[in-house]
Amino acid sequence: MTEVVIQSDADAAATAATLLADRITRDPELVLGLATGSSPLHLYRALAERVTRDGIPMDRLRAFALDEYAGLDPEHPQSYLSTIRREAVEPLGLDPERVHVPDGSLERLPTAGERYEEAIALAGGVDVQILGIGTDGHIGFNEPGSSLASRTRIKTLTAQTRRDNARFFDSPEQVPTHCVTQGIGTILAAGHLLLFASGAHKADAVARAVEGPVSAGCPASAIQLHPRVTVFVDEAAASRLE
Ligand code: F6R
Repeated sequence: MTEVVIQSDADAAATAATLLADRITRDPELVLGLATGSSPLHLYRALAERVTRDGIPMDRLRAFALDEYAGLDPEHPQSYLSTIRREAVEPLGLDPERVHVPDGSLERLPTAGERYEEAIALAGGVDVQILGIGTDGHIGFNEPGSSLASRTRIKTLTAQTRRDNARFFDSPEQVPTHCVTQGIGTILAAGHLLLFASGAHKADAVARAVEGPVSAGCPASAIQLHPRVTVFVDEAAASRLE
């Protein structure tokens, strides 16, 4: 079932931080699925405040990022490994050894997907997965046309996604062309999906994801197949919902 919560970014972050803080307090070994990008940043900050204020135990938490650019130096400030360290691992006090990001190095690319799926399975699966949504309806880097049954694998980024992400790089040409991403099937295997979207530019994608036909044309529409989804949207991102 999909629950839609219409709140400002700050309120949505506070709601989701409470939900996560409760889950982590009950199960300090929870497996958390992390997203990069702008959408989850309010949540990471709100949760970090709760961690400091309420002493929520974070050191035994395990975490898996959704995706990583292929062929970008892991130490590059815009690699998802660096981003996850900066935005989530450090402020939340996670143990870096327990935080996994797909391996985007070119030499090991052929086995990156399979190794990542094994690591998730070894951890017992993801309990709560944080998601953003692309303007073209992608989740993770599963671009339109991705199989709804897909697992972690190499994908080509669309021109639209490279344009959207160019803001993080010095020039658009620097945005990598490929990535390793959890598949839609991988994402759907998580216990609870929390999807965040804000701004009018996300309104179309949100409407298609929540109310459109379930179709590979809008990969995020696959969330309709999941039994437990909470979609946090602000008024602008909710503006095209019926
Ligand atoms: C990030 C990811 C992407 C983003 C999406 C939205 O790990 O997998 O699906 O969630 O591109 O990005 P923002 O939040 O920057 O608008």
